[in-house]
Amino acid sequence: MKYNYCGRSGLQLPEISLGLWHNFGDVDDFETSTSMILHAFDRGITHFDLANNYGPPPGSAESNFGKILSKELKSHRDELIISSKAGHLMWDGPYGDGGSRKYIMASIDQSLKRTGLEYFDIFYSHRYDPNTPVEETMQALIDIVRQGKALYIGISKYPPQKAIEAYEILKGQNIPCLIYQDRYSMLAREPEAEQMNINKKYGVGFIAFSPLAQGLLTNKYLHGIPKGSRASKSHGFLQEKEVTSEVVKKVTALNELAIQRGQTLAEMSLAWLLRNEHVTSVIIGASSVEQLKDNLRATDNSLFSPDELNLIENILR
Ligand SMILES: NC(=O)c1ccc[n+]([C@@H]2O[C@H](COP(=O)([O-])OP(=O)(O)OC[C@H]3O[C@@H](n4cnc5c(N)ncnc54)[C@H](OP(=O)(O)O)[C@@H]3O)[C@@H](O)[C@H]2O)c1
Repeated sequence: MKYNYCGRSGLQLPEISLGLWHNFGDVDDFETSTSMILHAFDRGITHFDLANNYGPPPGSAESNFGKILSKELKSHRDELIISSKAGHLMWDGPYGDGGSRKYIMASIDQSLKRTGLEYFDIFYSHRYDPNTPVEETMQALIDIVRQGKALYIGISKYPPQKAIEAYEILKGQNIPCLIYQDRYSMLAREPEAEQMNINKKYGVGFIAFSPLAQGLLTNKYLHGIPKGSRASKSHGFLQEKEVTSEVVKKVTALNELAIQRGQTLAEMSLAWLLRNEHVTSVIIGASSVEQLKDNLRATDNSLFSPDELNLIENILR
C-alpha cells in the first residue's frame, strides 16, 4: 500500500481507505463486515471512515465497528486512522441535524460511546449548513480538538467559498483543516472545477468518496440490476432510476477500455482517480472481501497513456 501525506500535514493516509456507509449496519451480515475490516487492515488499509448516521439503523455502523475493533484490533489502535462525522439528520428535534455547536458536541460524544474509542483521528463537519454561521461550526470543531476528542478536523461537501471561510477560521486558531471530503469519480467531477486548487493553496488534503459511483463504475450494472446489489436494496442510497441507459452506455464503453488494459472496470475507475496529484486517498465501499481484493488491484496499474486519457474524456463527454 502506498501512503500519501495529507495536504501540508505530517499525517499519511493509505491511497485506498475503506468507508462504512453501507454494509456495516445491523441489517448486514456481521461476519462479512468483520472479514472486510480484517482483510483491509491486513492489506495496509489503515484508514476507516465512519459517520454518526451510517447503518441502517443510524449509529449501527459505529457500534459494529466498535465491536470489531475491541475484539480483533484493540492492540492496533495506534496503527489506525478512524474518522467520523456529524452534519446530517441523526435524531429528532432541532438539535439532531446541521452544524450547530449543540449538535456537533452531543454527536461526537455519542459516536465515541458507540465505537468505544477515546478519540477520533479525524472528525468532520459532514455538510455545510446554510442556517448556522461557519464560525459556530468551526469553533465547535476547534474545541473538540482542544478537548482531545479528535486529533484533526475535516469538512465535507462545503461549497468552495464556504470551504475557504472555514480554512481561514481554522488557520487563525492554529488548528488547520486537515482534509476535505467530497464525491469524486469519473461520473462526478465537480471538485476539479475549484475545490482541488483551493485545497492545494491551503495545504488541505482531498479524499474522494463514492469513487465507483456507488457501484455504477464497475461491471455489475451492464446488463440490468442484479439481485443483492445496492441499487436493488430498499435501504441502498443508489436508486434504480439512476441506472439510466445513458450511464450504462458510457460504462459499457469504459468497460471495453478496462478489458483492453487488462483490468476490471472497478480497478480502472480507481486507478484513474489515484493518478490525480490532488487526491490523497479514495474511500471505497465494498459488500464482500472479493470486491475489496478486486479494488486493491487498482494500484497494480495506474498509468494511462495520453490516448487512453483522451478516450476516457470522449466517453464521458
Ligand atoms: N462525506 C459524505 O457525505 C459521504 C457520502 C457518501 C460516502 N461517503 C464515504 O465514502 C465511502 C464509500 O462510498 P461508496 O460506498 O458509495 O463507494 P463506492 O466505492 O463508489 O461504491 C461501493 C459499492 O460499489 C460496489 N462495488 C465495490 N467494489 C466493487 C467491485 N469490485 N465490483 C463490483 N461492485 C463493487 C458495492 O456495492 P454492492 O452492494 O452493489 O455490491 C459497494 O458497496 C462511504 O462508505 C463513506 O465512508 C461519504
